[in-house]
Amino acid sequence: HQLGILHGPNLNLLGTREPGIYGHETLADINHGLELLARDLDIGLTCFQSNSEADLINWVHQHRSLSGLVINPAAYTHTSVALRDALAGTAIPFVEVHLSNIHRREPFRHHSYFSDQAVGVICGLGSEGYRAGLRFLHQHLTHKQT
Ligand code: DQA
Repeated sequence: HQLGILHGPNLNLLGTREPGIYGHETLADINHGLELLARDLDIGLTCFQSNSEADLINWVHQHRSLSGLVINPAAYTHTSVALRDALAGTAIPFVEVHLSNIHRREPFRHHSYFSDQAVGVICGLGSEGYRAGLRFLHQHLTHKQT
């Protein structure tokens, strides 16, 4: 399987961005851990981050052949019908991940344009959420084929 990790806006600042909420790990640390896990699971992995909604949408279009995605849409979670439609339009199965528990935070973070389309949603587990999402997708896709 070839799987993808997609990170939305401001996640490039991880490590220094509101560490009380998002922790001290950098995005490079998180991606490195995911690459090690992918190697263990014997799956291919492509990671991408952008602050631009258009670039995220174009990336999804260009990677429509991926078997699955782990996506943290970050602030676009709460605003982007366009990124939601890109995922629906390419029909890539995805797990939605948030580092923080968005339901313990401001009310405007409680709604996601992605959750009703997601295979599953993980929030509040920090970077472990990405690894759990990747492990789950690997299992889910393997079982679907057998
Ligand atoms: C986030 C939660 C969002 O509300 C926020 O805009 C982010 C990160 C998270 O990972 O906890 O940028 O998706």
